[in-house]
Amino acid sequence: MAKTTTKPGYHCTECGWTTIRWVGRCGECQTWGSIEQVGAPKLRQVTQTAPTTKAIPIGQVDATEARRALTGVAELDRVLGGGFVPGAVVLLAGEPGVGKSTLLLEVAARWAKAGRRTLYVTGEESAAQVRLRAGRTDAVDDELFLAAETDLGTVLGHVEEVGPSLMVVDSVQTIATAEAEGAPGGVTQVREVTGALVRVAKRRGMAVVLVGHVTKDGTVAGPRSLEHLVDVVLSFDGDRHSGFRMVRGVKNRFGPSDEVGCFEMTDGGIIEVPDPSGLFTTEREEVVPGTCVTVTMEGQRPLLAEVQALVVTSADQSPRRITNGVDSSRLAMILAVLQRRVGVRLGGKDVYVSTVGGARLTDPGADLAIALAVASATVNVSLPQRVAALGEVGLAGDIRRVPGVGRRMAEAARLGFTRAVVPHSPDLGGMSGLMVHTCRTITQAFDGLDFATPRGGAYDSAAG
Ligand code: TYD
Ligand code: MG
Repeated sequence: MAKTTTKPGYHCTECGWTTIRWVGRCGECQTWGSIEQVGAPKLRQVTQTAPTTKAIPIGQVDATEARRALTGVAELDRVLGGGFVPGAVVLLAGEPGVGKSTLLLEVAARWAKAGRRTLYVTGEESAAQVRLRAGRTDAVDDELFLAAETDLGTVLGHVEEVGPSLMVVDSVQTIATAEAEGAPGGVTQVREVTGALVRVAKRRGMAVVLVGHVTKDGTVAGPRSLEHLVDVVLSFDGDRHSGFRMVRGVKNRFGPSDEVGCFEMTDGGIIEVPDPSGLFTTEREEVVPGTCVTVTMEGQRPLLAEVQALVVTSADQSPRRITNGVDSSRLAMILAVLQRRVGVRLGGKDVYVSTVGGARLTDPGADLAIALAVASATVNVSLPQRVAALGEVGLAGDIRRVPGVGRRMAEAARLGFTRAVVPHSPDLGGMSGLMVHTCRTITQAFDGLDFATPRGGAYDSAAG
């Protein structure tokens, strides 16, 4: 960084915003501690040097170096696209307490148990704490080396000494070097540390996993500012009150970036959930009014989810609309469509809508199931048994297509569903095992399920 300036000025290293005076927080992107002094760019003569490695035709480049190796944790391998690539740097970002250390200790142990040298650097917990956890989760192995360290230089020393093929750094925010400015965890430090670790990873062909903490309101010393430095970015999230966890691919230079891996936190450590659909539905003998099952897509993965609704006469002037796992403005829209297009009477009624097992329904494909659940709750008549509903509900009462209908229906069929209500689409031929009702409008969806006739005065015949 040039310190001699012809014209004093400061800029944000995150977004490039400029300011005359130094400030602690960027006025543009609101990042703390990212403002640095700028020098007027000086044009310097670049001298030509002889290359140390020759440029060669791409077909002659040895690709064996980039062969991936499975981690042994199948759900993680799925997100990575088949394991770690030697020399690749992976950033695992997540909120504190979500289970990053638990997951990575498991990954390190599986890697080591396959006879591969592994180094786990912990800057947050003491070695004894990690050892204790490893004892509980059965993660002790002779090939797994542990170092409690916060100095970058010493970490690099450990790498030379141990010679691992996988290193876990927990977390990148706790490692610092005296060579760089700023406090540990600050933007400058975190970037320097990441840069140095990326260089050693590439040089040694060692896979590196960095833990990055993020907070609810965005980022502290933003793992986001590291995203372009690393090869793979994974986000680890889950609801505090349920043990279910998901690892999502955000960026992947070596594979798909929209895969998800499912895990569950248990007392004995983190376990894989290869078949998560059952977690978000209720097993029951007979159907109950106000429930409807849908199939959502998480990345490439179809997941069954159950919507439950309860509609009761309101005691208040303004009826309540309470949601859990469903966006409340989305529900308001669906209620309006139900009222206007189907004639479901919701005036003066409290509407509660919830998902099962803490699922969050952001997929618009869940709209129709929400609509059916609310209608079913309003008239207190249950939907037919074993039916799954898919489709985005438009304000005109139209049911719009959603991606991956075939895969979603296959998942429903696999889990024992016999009927599906889906948006009209030309490529639905050949779906075996399911009785499929296609619909273009919400009224057709209700007709398909014999659910359109007014019952008990809850339907308004004036709607259209
Ligand atoms: P941790 O991996 O330390 O989170 P992070 O590294 O992301 O901050 O996990 C923290 C939580 O996980 C903690 O609240 C306890 C829980 N946990 C389990 O449920 N089972 C276990 O076996 C372990 C080790 C932790
Ligand atoms: Mg941790």
